[in-house]
Amino acid sequence: MQNTAITIRPMSAFTGAEISNVDLRQPLAEQTYLEIRKALNDWGVIFFRSQDLTPAQQLAFARRFGKAEADAHVSNMQGVDGIPEVKEVVREADHVRNIGGFWHMDQSFHPNPSCFSVLYARELPPVGGDTSFAHLSAAHDALSPGFRATLERLSCTHVRSHADSAAINPAASALSHEYYTESLKKFAGMEASHPVIATHPESSRKVLYFSPIYCDRFDGWTREESLPLMTHLTKVMTEPEHTCRFRWEEGSMAMWDNRAVVHYALDDYAGHRRLMHRITVEGPWLTPCSAAA
Ligand code: OGA
Ligand code: MN
Repeated sequence: MQNTAITIRPMSAFTGAEISNVDLRQPLAEQTYLEIRKALNDWGVIFFRSQDLTPAQQLAFARRFGKAEADAHVSNMQGVDGIPEVKEVVREADHVRNIGGFWHMDQSFHPNPSCFSVLYARELPPVGGDTSFAHLSAAHDALSPGFRATLERLSCTHVRSHADSAAINPAASALSHEYYTESLKKFAGMEASHPVIATHPESSRKVLYFSPIYCDRFDGWTREESLPLMTHLTKVMTEPEHTCRFRWEEGSMAMWDNRAVVHYALDDYAGHRRLMHRITVEGPWLTPCSAAA
């Protein structure tokens, strides 16, 4: 029988694990699926190497974990091979925009964000283009009990268009003001409020659900009042000890849980093409702390 003896190797103390001895073209035995799902719960993001997958095989793997999203949240990306669930995340050699080049969880500006993201590397620059991840429970657990109690009463509004604003997102500084103006129009009203502290439905761990760029303000606070606290939460969230960094090879695949980690696509390979295939999967959302506004 295939795929019955996987190996799980953590990447750091809190975040990420690499899984080997598995061929994702083959259906997963139930026990193997459960072990992979547990690794995802334990580490927030898992990595596979040397896989040789068609878009349909990537989709079959993703579907073991839930319903793949066809377009609701990700309509600005093209479907691959006529499969709407498989999106191209591409950066051409002359593109200035680096998709995901800031700490974020996917689609937090929606009321029902994607649960899992499954990203497969097709074409990579010779060096660079790594992705970093940071665990939201590690960040939560690093906060003092008194501070956590305060944060449990807060919710935060996440706004899509912030990612394209040079004033808010340093990674957007190469984008023109016109691009931001267009983005404001296109994504008008695309925002959602989420509790700052919530409980993960599978691991039962608490998470700091916060996005340094998408978060606009704590609800009921002004942006000016919110900024100092947001700066502090960003620092805690991205402490090097809370992160891991994945160096892609062609055929690598990452699967992360947007309820448990934030991620960051490094922008250090100008002049080269990078092509990834991404699938997002629905799932049960975080449970709010009852005290949240
Ligand atoms: C994404 C994303 C990171 C990367 O696909 O949501 O942020 O490294 N990608 O491509
Ligand atoms: Mn992303």
